[in-house]
Amino acid sequence: MMSLSRGVMRVMVLVTVMLVTYILYLGHHKLDHFLPEERHEGIIKRTHHQCPLPKRILIWTTYWHEQSFAWERIFFRQVSRQCPVSNCELVYDHRLLDSADAVLFHAIDLPQFKLPPKRILEQMWIFFTLEAPPVELKHLRNVFNWTMSYRLDSDVPVPYGRIIPKSQSSITTAPPVKDYWANKTKYKMAAWMVSHCGTESRREWFVKELVHFMKVDVFGRCGFKKCGKNISLRTLGTFNQDECNAEIEQYMFYFAFENSICQDYITEKFFLALQLDVIPVVFGGGNYAAIAPINSYINALDFKTPKELAKYLELVAENATMYNKYFEWKNKYIVELGHPFSPMVCDLCSKLHDPTQFKLSNITKRSGAEAAGVKLSVQGRDNNGSYPDIDSWFVKGSSCRIWWSGQHDYEKHGNFV
Ligand SMILES: *[C@@H]1O[C@H](CO)[C@@H](O)[C@H](O)[C@H]1NC(C)=O
Ligand SMILES: *[C@@H]1O[C@H](CO)[C@@H](O)[C@H](O)[C@H]1NC(C)=O
Ligand SMILES: *[C@@H]1O[C@H](CO)[C@@H](O)[C@H](O)[C@H]1NC(C)=O
Ligand SMILES: *[C@@H]1O[C@H](CO)[C@@H](O)[C@H](O)[C@H]1NC(C)=O
Ligand SMILES: *[C@@H]1O[C@H](CO)[C@@H](O)[C@H](O)[C@H]1NC(C)=O
Ligand SMILES: *[C@@H]1O[C@H](CO)[C@@H](O)[C@H](O)[C@H]1NC(C)=O
Repeated sequence: MMSLSRGVMRVMVLVTVMLVTYILYLGHHKLDHFLPEERHEGIIKRTHHQCPLPKRILIWTTYWHEQSFAWERIFFRQVSRQCPVSNCELVYDHRLLDSADAVLFHAIDLPQFKLPPKRILEQMWIFFTLEAPPVELKHLRNVFNWTMSYRLDSDVPVPYGRIIPKSQSSITTAPPVKDYWANKTKYKMAAWMVSHCGTESRREWFVKELVHFMKVDVFGRCGFKKCGKNISLRTLGTFNQDECNAEIEQYMFYFAFENSICQDYITEKFFLALQLDVIPVVFGGGNYAAIAPINSYINALDFKTPKELAKYLELVAENATMYNKYFEWKNKYIVELGHPFSPMVCDLCSKLHDPTQFKLSNITKRSGAEAAGVKLSVQGRDNNGSYPDIDSWFVKGSSCRIWWSGQHDYEKHGNFV
């Protein structure tokens, strides 16, 4: 009995081993088969294997002092294999430095970390940030090979959202005419949701002046109104709460005011508002006209004074035709939200497999400052493949400024920070 069952066991183990070997062999062939030629070659050269290794991304720093949990929210699509190219892995153990294809650094957390002690040839060191300046980067020369941020001139741009044309088939030829204006009341004129009361942009100064001319309901920590649960704009994503959205949609306008007026810095506030039935009033340094359809928002900084903005909002609020015109774009475009769970982070893995992807984006005049004629002198990546001065690229190149009552010629008044 005993020896028979042992024999059976042996046979079973042998069969299992053979099966696993066969499946693995098949697996390799399948993967090889789906790899484009040039990638195929690169991988074989690198690994001397038939099996393509994933690109290893070593996360060197924390994200706002948080560990892997926070990073995996940012890279959710990558980690959960929802990317078109998902053959990349995120690792956190510094001992894996030698085997990493890329090393990622979060700008804000950099001061708490020493840079890696050595540098492997062909390893990409990547500067990552979703926050506008200021940030301390002075001593970091020729450190980073790539940048990954909301800035549209990053090597891997990861904006907070994007507005993309609907597929031709889903555009209804005769859209049902929706009267957005009919459900609104002037008693609920403008909502502003804000938890960060004193900001770099001085948006609060703007609103302080504005409230002399129109009613603004302030939700969150800096006001008296409440909706939904606690809102922390810092903790990305917690803002998207049904209760708050329903509240906001009762208003004529929603203030999507950025806390910094910097190049390309347009956060989720704007993209979330676009998804609701409310007109976003924006205040920031990005070139909204370049990334959003015409008549999808009202730009506060297009007006000479807060008073003039108030006058215009009053006009729009009183006229159904004018009001509804700000929703016509919804028939042709959809809004894709970025962080967290951003699909844009997928581009990093694609680019690691094919570095020629995602060349500098070709949006000219990316900011309000450029549109106002300010020349940006940004030192980008040099011919040796790294940024000689990341501070110049990120901080200087963001040309952040503050709102200044009554002064609209930014260059003349030198109110850049
Ligand atoms: C206006 O409110 C009514 C009743 O709540 C609703 O059925 C209708 O869809 C709303 N219209 C729009 C444009 O949201
Ligand atoms: C909301 O925040 C306040 C102060 O930060 C805190 O005391 C309270 O418990 C929070 N409420 C919820 C529901 O999280
Ligand atoms: C509303 O605006 C439209 C378009 O600007 C204009 O033709 C119309 O006269 C306005 N209606 C009123 C009542 O002011
Ligand atoms: C960028 O756009 C401009 C204007 O549309 C065009 O002339 C130029 O060739 C484009 N550059 C690249 C690199 O695509
Ligand atoms: C590239 O590196 C070499 C050697 O360090 C240096 O002499 C050269 O100036 C660098 N080129 C650029 C464009 O920075
Ligand atoms: C990355 O930057 C380093 C430091 O400047 C440089 O030596 C290296 O060649 C760069 N790597 C690539 C692949 O460009």
